[in-house]
Order: sequence, then structure tokens, then C-alpha cells
Amino acid sequence: MANTEVIKPETLDELIQALHKIFESDNINVEEVQDLMESYESKPQEWAKFAKFDPYRYTRNLVDTGNGKFNLIVLCWGEGHGSSIHDHTDSHCFMKLLQGQLKETLFEWPKDKAQGEMVTRSQRILQENKVAYINDSIGLHRVENVSHTEGAVSLHLYSPPFDTCQTFDQRTGHRNRVSMTFWSKYGERTPFETTVSKENN
Ligand code: SIN
Repeated sequence: MANTEVIKPETLDELIQALHKIFESDNINVEEVQDLMESYESKPQEWAKFAKFDPYRYTRNLVDTGNGKFNLIVLCWGEGHGSSIHDHTDSHCFMKLLQGQLKETLFEWPKDKAQGEMVTRSQRILQENKVAYINDSIGLHRVENVSHTEGAVSLHLYSPPFDTCQTFDQRTGHRNRVSMTFWSKYGERTPFETTVSKENN
């Protein structure tokens, strides 16, 4: 049952504090988190320092690590940018629109060994301030900014946090495990990592 005592957060900082409180418990009530995130009215001046756009692909910008219980991330979607079809590594995924609109396409998991076009279950346009929810038992999704003129900014909460997920080829259902990186952390550009080949060690 949703906790009716949740107080509407007036600022992003208040929202983060309230999320910390909720996630002290190991039993997460999805509706409660969704209601809380939805009750925060997006104010660009509060999240602008995390909103870093890249000309070529959407960016992931870490805002808070939720005492190890969740990651809160600002995603910036330039015109036409989109994610691959992906899963959520057995975590909860809450996605709030801070600015603009995003299209979410929901897919069924490919059947084992099946090779062929993935099955689309539904599509919807997510509007400003609304919060969508998905986990692996619901299915897979692709998120896209289909606008040719406006960027979009979303606030994602993943719990437990994860740093790899599976991506899927829409035509064949083939999957790949990929690492998920942050374009910035706490408003600062993430330094490029020098990759050292394991074979050389
Ligand atoms: C991501 O976090 O990079 C993908 C966006 C999503 O899960 O909706």
C-alpha cells in the first residue's frame, strides 16, 4: 500500500532526500516511488548542472548514488537520439520526464533461440513530469526522442544500481551484454579511461 504521508518535494534536493528515506527499507513500493517522483515539478535551474548534451548520442549523468541502494541519473536526449532495446538487469527502472517528450516502445523478450523480428507490445509518448516504470518481468524497452527540433531530459532511478545490461537486435532478437558509462558525475565530465588490454598483464 502506498505511504500517504509522502510529502510533495518542492525541489530536486528535497526529492533526493525523500528517495533516500524510502530506500532505507528493503521493501520498495513501486507506486510510492512513482507518486513521489511524479509529485516533484521539474524546475530546469535545479537540474541544469547535470544536463550535458552530446551531439551524437544521449548522455547519462550521475546525480546521486542513493547510499548504494539506487542510482539517480539525468539522461539528455538530443533531437533524434534513442537507446537500443535493452533490459534492466533485474532492477527497478523509474523514468521521469524533466523536459520535452520521449517515446517508449515496449518489446517482448525474444523466445530462446528464436531468430526473427522482435515482438512490439505497445508504444507511448511520455509527457513532462510523468513517471514511467519498467522491470524485466514487464519486458524490454527502447526510449527515443523523436523530435527534430527539441531536446529532452529525463531523470532515471535504477534500484539496485547496475552497470551492465543486455541490448537486443530488433530484427533477430540477438543479445549482447554492454557496459553502461556516465558522461558526467555530479556535474563534472567523466575523465576518459585508458583501457589496458588484459592480455598484456
Ligand atoms: C539508459 O539508462 O542508458 C537507458 C534508458 C532506460 O533504461 O530507459
